[in-house]
Amino acid sequence: MSVSKGKYKKITTNSLQAMKLNGEKISMLTAYDYTLAKIVDSAGIDIILVGDSASNVMAGHETTLPITLNEMIYHAASVVRAINRCLVVVDMPFGSYQGNSKEALSNAIRIMKESGGHSVKLEGGSEIIESVERILTAGIPVMGHLGLTPQSIYKFGTYTVRAKDEEEAEKLIADAKILEETGCFSIVLEKVPAKLAKRVAESVSIPIIGIGAGADVDGQVLVLHDMLGMNHEFNPRFLRRYLNLYEDITGAVQNYVSDVKSRSFPNDKEQY
Ligand code: KIV
Repeated sequence: MSVSKGKYKKITTNSLQAMKLNGEKISMLTAYDYTLAKIVDSAGIDIILVGDSASNVMAGHETTLPITLNEMIYHAASVVRAINRCLVVVDMPFGSYQGNSKEALSNAIRIMKESGGHSVKLEGGSEIIESVERILTAGIPVMGHLGLTPQSIYKFGTYTVRAKDEEEAEKLIADAKILEETGCFSIVLEKVPAKLAKRVAESVSIPIIGIGAGADVDGQVLVLHDMLGMNHEFNPRFLRRYLNLYEDITGAVQNYVSDVKSRSFPNDKEQY
């Protein structure tokens, strides 16, 4: 199936802004390595997020907290080597921007210099605004992340839907406005009621990219390994699986094992 890559040869923060203005939805997926990033970029994705979900997906940690700045830079550099067209956003890992804004800036600069990524993403609103401001002064584009912010899992205690009550909803809208006013080019909105997500997308002029935030936002993001069905244990309502790679890969490995054991691999043509 051929996919239209639209009118943008290379995606920039300006293209994303134009997409919001024109009502064109923005597509975003995670990737953490060269091979998959190359496929995802060639298939026409607008944004690759080198998410700190690499902590779970690639390293097998229970949360996103343990992944380090060096590990994020390693993943991001691998992705950047693979891509031609999409914008690459790199998550700033837990602890790399909450302490003070000077540290946040030097960590963001390391990400940009050492990985070649195009922008960084930080979780939170008013409480991290000094770091956002200082990073922006260096000319580094910043994406915000509101709603369910997994780096705060020990504060929330659960990964369930955020901002169901009016007080938290109002704070979320206020945070989105603060991030916009400060100069963020976009915001990820994770696991909030669809009606609230619509209000947020209408309240700001920058693109709102949703995950578990319904259809009335400016774009969608999923974790690549989830949408490819590589993890059959994770079944949130918002997840649409486009493949069932867990079963396909299991079957392929089982067939290989059986072929090796039965001596049917390699055959005469598969040797020198
Ligand atoms: O790290 C990540 O994969 C993310 C997405 C869930 C938006 O932040």
